Amino acid sequence: MSELSVNHLLGIKYITQEDIDLIFKTADHFKEVINRPIKKVPSLRDITIANLFFENSTRTKLSFELAEKRLSADVINFSAAASSVKKGETLIDTVNNILSMKVDMVVMRHPNPGAGVFLSKHIKASIINAGDGAHEHPTQALLDSYSIKERLGEVAGKNVVIVGDILHSRVALSNIYALKLQGANVKICGPKTLIPKYIESLGVEVELDLRKALEWCDVANMLRVQNERMDISYFPSTREYRQQYGVSKDLLDSLNKEIVIMHPGPINRGVEITSDVADSGQSIILDQVQNGVAVRMAVIYLLASKIK
Ligand code: NCD
Repeated sequence: MSELSVNHLLGIKYITQEDIDLIFKTADHFKEVINRPIKKVPSLRDITIANLFFENSTRTKLSFELAEKRLSADVINFSAAASSVKKGETLIDTVNNILSMKVDMVVMRHPNPGAGVFLSKHIKASIINAGDGAHEHPTQALLDSYSIKERLGEVAGKNVVIVGDILHSRVALSNIYALKLQGANVKICGPKTLIPKYIESLGVEVELDLRKALEWCDVANMLRVQNERMDISYFPSTREYRQQYGVSKDLLDSLNKEIVIMHPGPINRGVEITSDVADSGQSIILDQVQNGVAVRMAVIYLLASKIK
């Protein structure tokens, strides 16, 4: 297959195993490019991309922007805090105004689940979802799987536990879809209050005991507690969360095998993982960040090739 089955990347739910294989094969090539002295290719010289961030972001925004620039696309940036959204403009009006300046592709982060799907029904440009509320974050899940494959050779058959705030995490949902699609075994671990009741219907198992989950897995993806999405207390205190669901080096060293530690960032050092875990050889957190640029270059390149 040389073409994606979709015209937008709105979620992992909408793509296939073949799409993922094609994205990874393309990302391998771009990873080689970004490690050259000249880290740039002219592929998208005729494409203009708008990065629309209606919600805060550091690494995702920088990663997309870098990916676009390394493909030689023209890039415009928009962040809601400094925009007319605050003056009451609707999403469709905001985006249509930007598109009338001849923009070919939109990368959008938005606090509302489904914002990308909604927009795709109203505009012509190709859309990449860079996180829609607690729903999906497809490029994060792709770069996570790509990083697992890089470290362990393959994703199929691997045991992956996703630990923490599953309820509010778009990273969790996109990872579950992506890992299941590629044939990994997935468990979810965290406080019961932060695990949605429907989760087992996605083909994953729940393990409330962190030690048991870690003994089982090859990879632990440690998620941040999404305090900004919580209107009530879901656990008694940060101290108790850390004691029950935080990973320390002592805990890792006491396991019967060496597991891989991942984290999408931003890390709360000392809460979900301690500093010595984050900075240890078992952690692939910075590989995830580096791979993020190559994987996003691949997604943008493949979607752009469908525009013409
Ligand atoms: C994640 C996000 O924004 O969903 N971060 C990211 O994109 N790297 C995870 C988080 O905020 O905890």
